Amino acid sequence: MERRDFVSNIGLTLALACTAGLAACSKGGNDNTPPVPPPGGGTTNKLTLNLGSDLLNPGDFKISNGVIIIRTGTGNTAAAFTALSSTCTHQGCTVANYNNASKLIECNAPCGHGSRFTATGAVNTGPAGNPLTAYTVKVDGNSLTVS
Ligand code: FES
Repeated sequence: MERRDFVSNIGLTLALACTAGLAACSKGGNDNTPPVPPPGGGTTNKLTLNLGSDLLNPGDFKISNGVIIIRTGTGNTAAAFTALSSTCTHQGCTVANYNNASKLIECNAPCGHGSRFTATGAVNTGPAGNPLTAYTVKVDGNSLTVS
């Protein structure tokens, strides 16, 4: 390869690498634009569960993707579940547990400072001063979605 061809190839390679790098950077970072709904006009779900294997019994709960979802009743209907933000309103720790005996959501050590919330998200015990954000639960057969 002649020197001129070599320099030309290097220039083209660098141009492609820079273009790819800029494109990658434009998709990352702290983008505050809202999520794009999926085709067909649906909503972006925070969580999807299979009720054939998840949350089978009252008191069962799951913490995932910023959500705590609790089965509070029987049957596969939306009314049998509550979905809340799992981010404690005190200092932003993820809540640790749903205590089925006390029926309270617990924000425990090492991060939490002992706040307790009811299954509706209301503050039961501080130091948290504000409720957990409630989300919408939909059930279709064995498919549960939180949005
Ligand atoms: S972060 Fe939950 S009690 Fe402090």
